[in-house]
Formats: sequence, C-alpha cells, structure tokens
Amino acid sequence: MTPKIALFASGSGSNVENIIRYFSGNKNFEFPLILSNKPDAFVHERAKMLGVPSFTFSRDDFAEGHKIVSFLKEYDINFIILAGFLLKISAPILETFPNKIINIHPALLPKFGGRGMYGHHVHQAVVEAGETQSGITIHYVNEQYDDGNVIFQAVCEVLPEDTPETIAEKVHALEYLHFPKVIESVVGNQLK
Ligand code: GAR
Repeated sequence: MTPKIALFASGSGSNVENIIRYFSGNKNFEFPLILSNKPDAFVHERAKMLGVPSFTFSRDDFAEGHKIVSFLKEYDINFIILAGFLLKISAPILETFPNKIINIHPALLPKFGGRGMYGHHVHQAVVEAGETQSGITIHYVNEQYDDGNVIFQAVCEVLPEDTPETIAEKVHALEYLHFPKVIESVVGNQLK
C-alpha cells in the first residue's frame, strides 16, 4: 500500500516544500494535499508552485475535528505531518490517526515546548536562557502541545553571538536535512 500523507502548515511552508521535493519521483510515498489554518500563509504559494492542492480550514474546524477527518478520508489519507502547524490537534483527528501524526519542533524538547512556543518565540527563549545548544525534535503528536513520544532529535551549537535569526537558520538546516528521512523511515517501518 502506498501511504498517502497530508501535510499541515500554518506559515511559510519551507519544510513542506523541502519534504515534497525530497520525495518527488518516489512512487512509494504520496503527498496529495496540504492543509492550513491561514488563507494567506505562504505555504499556499509554494503549493501552487509544487502542483499540490492546498486548502484552508478555520481554527474552529480544526478544534471540532470531524470536518477535517471527513475531508482527509475523502483523500484516503493515512498519515499526517505537521510542518510548522501551530494549532492543537483535536481528539477526533488523533483518534482517527493513532500514532500516525508526526510533528517537528524547533528546539530540544522537553525544553522550550508548550503553548505559545513556536517559530521565533522558541529561538528568542533559547537566547534569553543562555543555552549553548538547540536543535530539533521530531515526535508523535498527542493531546498536549509538544508532548508525544520523541522519535528523533538533532543538536546544533548556540554561540554567544547567535541571535534568534541565526539560530532559526541553524535549526532550519537540521530540519531540511533530517525531517524527510525520518518521515521516510517512520512511515516505511509502520507499513512493513
Ligand atoms: C519550523 O522551524 C518548525 O519547526 C516550527 O515552525 C517552523 C516552520 O517553518 N514549528 C513549530 O514551532 C511548532 N511548535 P516553515 O514554515 O518554513 O517550514
């Protein structure tokens, strides 16, 4: 069975683009759609460029869940990847996709996770805490923010001269390198 993977994104979507490019030409993985909660997110521009349909649902639709579940079922989706998606995943979605929703977080969880900890806010907090390391965490999603079982982490150095922007660059580099490979391995193993 070829897995059909939905990508959820709220912002720029550079990870979405990187994932789709990594798997392009690979017939063993399909990415039939991108969902967002923001109609003006740049991920929609990338989706057009990549030729992948993208759709926006409201915050309430994501919170209620059933409309999203029906929509994903229409597309025969069996995995969900959160790539810069900022809303909590509600119970109906979690129950329909047990252990099949994966998130990437731009820090070394359990540090710098939880509500309000996304994108720039995370890197700002890392600088303010005087950390010497940051990195990425790829984890299964549960009903709490940034709390599910960790699948993979990778570390980057944080130097005294680093700013939230330079940390974001280092973290993005780790994300681009590792996230597609982790998806390939986790989804591939689950289907064996
Ligand atoms: C990524 O760094 C991702 O780890 C982070 O948002 C960024 C999205 O960038 N996710 C979170 O902060 C989730 N709590 P992108 O839109 O360019 O892929």
